[in-house]
Amino acid sequence: MDTIATSATADTTVSNDDFLAAVAEKSNGAALRGNYEKADAQYVVEQDWDAYTEAEHELWRKLYQRQMELLPGRACDEFIEALHKMDASAGIPKFERTSEELFAATGWRIVAVPGLIPELTFFEHLANRRFPITVWLRTPEEFNYIVEPDVFHDYFGHVPMLFNPIFADYMQLYGKGGLKAMKLGGLDFLARLYWYTVEFGLINTDKGLRIYGAGILSSGGEVEYCLKPGTTSRHIHLDIERCLQTLYKIDSYQETYFFIDDFQQLFDGTAPDFTPYYERLKQLDALPANTLLPGEVELLP
Ligand code: PHE
Ligand code: FE
Repeated sequence: MDTIATSATADTTVSNDDFLAAVAEKSNGAALRGNYEKADAQYVVEQDWDAYTEAEHELWRKLYQRQMELLPGRACDEFIEALHKMDASAGIPKFERTSEELFAATGWRIVAVPGLIPELTFFEHLANRRFPITVWLRTPEEFNYIVEPDVFHDYFGHVPMLFNPIFADYMQLYGKGGLKAMKLGGLDFLARLYWYTVEFGLINTDKGLRIYGAGILSSGGEVEYCLKPGTTSRHIHLDIERCLQTLYKIDSYQETYFFIDDFQQLFDGTAPDFTPYYERLKQLDALPANTLLPGEVELLP
């Protein structure tokens, strides 16, 4: 779900080889998925759209259709409206076309990457309003679950929200905040914010709780699960420092979903300097993913 190799070193001068080694280690010695040979210094490649097979376009259509059956009444309006405008139901889209529409809307561009990229590079792309998208598509066997982000997760899950001006600004500031956190030893904390907002965030609208997180919106099962009453998962109002302190699950549905009331709140809440947060958090233990603190209220039963 994450686009960054979260185990990569916080060394801001991490080399290409170190990165590949870190990712190999993360996935228990398995080779890094994707072809990095033609990547430039920013890990950017050509999408090479003509190389996709008809079977891959067909798999994309199936993934797309499955999500479209799940999203009405669950995804936030901002996501659904942008997704319709993107018009990407017919097959793996050409990034270039969407990139032009996106640039016209919010000044963001899409860049193609081979797969996971180093944190430093990822943050630099975001800080410059470029969203990196993996070029390869999962296999049919991975229809329901995929460990690393593929083009369906990256494009379908993330790009629609970048059409929203406030969210688009939030993402850029997150990139700048990432570069800053690398210097302050705050990356583990900041990564949790990305996870619980950009990937697994919920928003409490007039019509009810809705999803804006890409990790949920591109997933088959979690779209329904995360809004269902009566599960063991918690739904708590987003408090930034509390979120920075909270561990997350990478191999199961989330045990906590943090919700916001609107995107301005997300933007304003993350505007302060995080330096004192990091200093405080370094003195504390992280909270388990299923924590409920005294005074916290769960939105769903
Ligand atoms: N304001 C944060 C800082 O000073 C940076 C940030 C902005 C982090 C937006 C996340 C989202 O470090
Ligand atoms: Fe993602």
